[in-house]
Amino acid sequence: MAAFRQPSDRVNFRHVASRTKSNYRGKPITPIEAPTGLDPKLVALGRRLFHDPRLSRDGTVSCASCHDLSQGGDDGQCFSIGVDGQPGDINAPTVFNSALNIAQFWDGRAANLRQQVDGPIHHPKEMASDWAEVLQRIGNDASLTAAFASAFGGPATAERVRIAIEAFETSLATLNAPFDGWLQGDDDAVSKEALEGFELFKRHGCISCHQGEAVGGNLFQRLGVMREYFVASRELRPSDLGRFNHTQREQDRHVFRVPSLRNVALTGPYFHDGSALNLEDAVHVMLHYQVGADEPDLAEIRKIVVFLNTLTGDTPKETL
Ligand code: HEM
Ligand code: HEM
Repeated sequence: MAAFRQPSDRVNFRHVASRTKSNYRGKPITPIEAPTGLDPKLVALGRRLFHDPRLSRDGTVSCASCHDLSQGGDDGQCFSIGVDGQPGDINAPTVFNSALNIAQFWDGRAANLRQQVDGPIHHPKEMASDWAEVLQRIGNDASLTAAFASAFGGPATAERVRIAIEAFETSLATLNAPFDGWLQGDDDAVSKEALEGFELFKRHGCISCHQGEAVGGNLFQRLGVMREYFVASRELRPSDLGRFNHTQREQDRHVFRVPSLRNVALTGPYFHDGSALNLEDAVHVMLHYQVGADEPDLAEIRKIVVFLNTLTGDTPKETL
């Protein structure tokens, strides 16, 4: 059957043409695009909720306690501290650019940001709360209740809380990273050393897992592809099982969602177990366990780290 060009094809064509013109240097990493179509009222309400400790059982912990937006969107700890000072057993990822993730959490157990919200609200070592408590507290706050009425035309519900937080998180895109400038054709946006680091990032195959708009976040991979990462040197934690915990499939044992490397210079310690305290160590681990380098070269590691530093974008000002 002859192909009939719909008007929508032309729109797509223009989109492709404009991308080509903006010169992504033919690479599988693309610049972060500003989110569109967000309702400012929802975003503002989501921002309030994100910073509200009343979402936790004892009113001491907000989302921002573990996802500090002035510090890269995480908490700088190996393991986060929840209500009653309890430590968890997995490293908190950043919430910046999290809308680009294929699924949420290291094991991908939440399909999207909306579903993710129930996790920390109920987690006994995070907020240890429940929807009845949260909604009662919101209902007792006239100003917050008015904000729900204005955004949704009605009172707070669990789903409305999820939707508002999702809208806020979707707004958390970090634009204008120097590397994005380079991708768009600005030769002076990054140093020669950073470009050498990027060449190494490609040559070693890092880019096969960390690619796309978020430089990661879009596939699942085993930690320890080339060498066994989980050796007998430390006891296994339940969280080390990764995606297996969610699917119970043997092939998902030690499989994790590949993290985005956007803003990675700000989000140490690294890995689901917080075991790498700085980026040099993290790159060393990746070269050894994911890529199979026997003795990773320190000069190469340094250059890759210089490249990774060019992935730091602007913190959206209105988030803080
Ligand atoms: C994971 C948002 C509260 C610690 C995440 C993720 C998002 C998020 C979007 C997934 C990111 C990714 O997979 O890359 C929120 C929101 C919260 C909240 C909206 C409030 C409702 C907290 C609190 C803590 C915390 C209070 C610490 C006590 C963590 C940890 C993970 C995580 C440890 C990783 C868990 C895992 O993968 O199993 N959070 N968070 N979060 N957050 Fe939060
Ligand atoms: C984690 C860089 C190769 C899959 C990380 C992290 C960095 C990094 C800095 C820590 C991010 C964070 O904790 O927020 C690199 C570099 C590579 C490379 C520089 C090349 C030398 C690869 C490859 C794969 C891969 C080839 C897939 C086969 C992963 C996974 C994690 C990760 C699954 C999360 C591990 C965990 O904590 O459970 N990578 N990576 N990486 N990378 Fe890579």
